[in-house]
Amino acid sequence: MKGIILAGGLGTRLSPLTKITNKHLLPIYDKPMIYYPLQTLVNAGIEDIMVVTGGNNAGDFLKLLGNGKEFGLKWLRYAYQEGEGGIADALSLAEHFAEGEKILVMLGDNVIEKNIIDPVRKFKEQDGGAKILLKEVDNPRDYGVAVLERDRVAMIIEKPEVPPTNYAVIGIYMYDARVFDMVRNLAPSARGELEITDVNNMYIKTGDMTYDFLDGWWADAGSSIDGCFQVSQRVAEGGANKV
Ligand code: G1P
Repeated sequence: MKGIILAGGLGTRLSPLTKITNKHLLPIYDKPMIYYPLQTLVNAGIEDIMVVTGGNNAGDFLKLLGNGKEFGLKWLRYAYQEGEGGIADALSLAEHFAEGEKILVMLGDNVIEKNIIDPVRKFKEQDGGAKILLKEVDNPRDYGVAVLERDRVAMIIEKPEVPPTNYAVIGIYMYDARVFDMVRNLAPSARGELEITDVNNMYIKTGDMTYDFLDGWWADAGSSIDGCFQVSQRVAEGGANKV
């Protein structure tokens, strides 16, 4: 299974900090933001990882992460996203890298307290399809929100005005190789981006989506300055990526 970290975008919600650099290079407590998702993937046993970046300071990722030696990796791959096409557009750049294998995609601004060893193991055993991870939150309007029907996901609504549940879809997604065909069939959303939620809803429609609840806290450090600050405090108090 290969890993892909999406670290592009303009990071406008963290402006003015992001006027001079890429959001994923900003500090979360004592490390650059991108270190956290990278460690999550490494802890899940994923050794072949691509970082997709773009916009400002893309070259700094190479300088910061190099070949991934600090994380015990033999190499790291990089791809450059031109423009602002959204999460699913960034993902499409990893098709060649994936070589038909199952992939784990993590957003570069997501930080977790524990690990995803269990859900990754289950997805490896799963007969293709996709898996998402959910977390109960107080502010579901800021995220993709899942509606559950017994043991399956019935649908995901992106940032709903009136959330039907408080189950946020966190930025860790597992897919089989069909994901790249699905991205090709996407139309841009109202905000002009190819949305990962639309990809997930395609897997739900074909009956190939499973879900798990994430163990431990989850934070989207890129969604607001307050969010970013709170993650730093949590990490300072108790650490992240515990195995
Ligand atoms: C994205 C996804 C959203 C998901 C969130 C998790 O939102 O579109 O469904 O819940 O990441 O971090 P964004 O942060 O790009 O607005």
